[in-house]
Amino acid sequence: VAMQGRFHYYEGYSMQEIVFPIRIMKMLGVEYLFVSNASGGTNDAHEIGDLMLITDHINLFFDNPLRGKNIDELGPRFPDMSNIYNKELISKAEAIGKANNIKLHKGVYIGVQGPTFETEAEYTMVKNLGADAVGMSTVPEVIAAIHAGLTCFGISVITDIGISGKIVEVSHEEVQIAAKKSEPKMTLIMKELVKSL
Ligand code: HPA
Repeated sequence: VAMQGRFHYYEGYSMQEIVFPIRIMKMLGVEYLFVSNASGGTNDAHEIGDLMLITDHINLFFDNPLRGKNIDELGPRFPDMSNIYNKELISKAEAIGKANNIKLHKGVYIGVQGPTFETEAEYTMVKNLGADAVGMSTVPEVIAAIHAGLTCFGISVITDIGISGKIVEVSHEEVQIAAKKSEPKMTLIMKELVKSL
């Protein structure tokens, strides 16, 4: 199953609406969730257009798709989140990157509501909280996927830089242009990963 786009919290959807496709996938028998996103890089090593393998995330949405009555057929009331981005898939992706001369970072993704991009103080805050990248998606879907027992893998395209001193004005169009440029690298990694399953 491939989704063309996704539902975002900033569009006004509830967390339950955002993760509905994940639950449909689970019920169709899907076992792996591969996610991608665009994000602002908050790691000094990041450059626009770089790819980052997501090793962990921080939920800064101040909401959670599992809030409310638990759907016991999908998963437990209090799901473990100690190891959610599959290490084996991360290692495989690193090997694919190496073999194809694609620079890959690894790091922590912080998910925020948006739709505003971060202020300089907010970029500094998320960096200090442990983020290597900040974006407006992914966290809800991965929480629901882990709850339902899917194995998860995620890549982020760094479309702008959120580091004090390096911050320039950012627009949705620039984010889209940067993401589009890096799309072939991301597609190659995803395709090779799927082949390796
Ligand atoms: N912040 C939040 N979301 C984003 C960004 C950002 O800098 N870039 C792309 N999505």
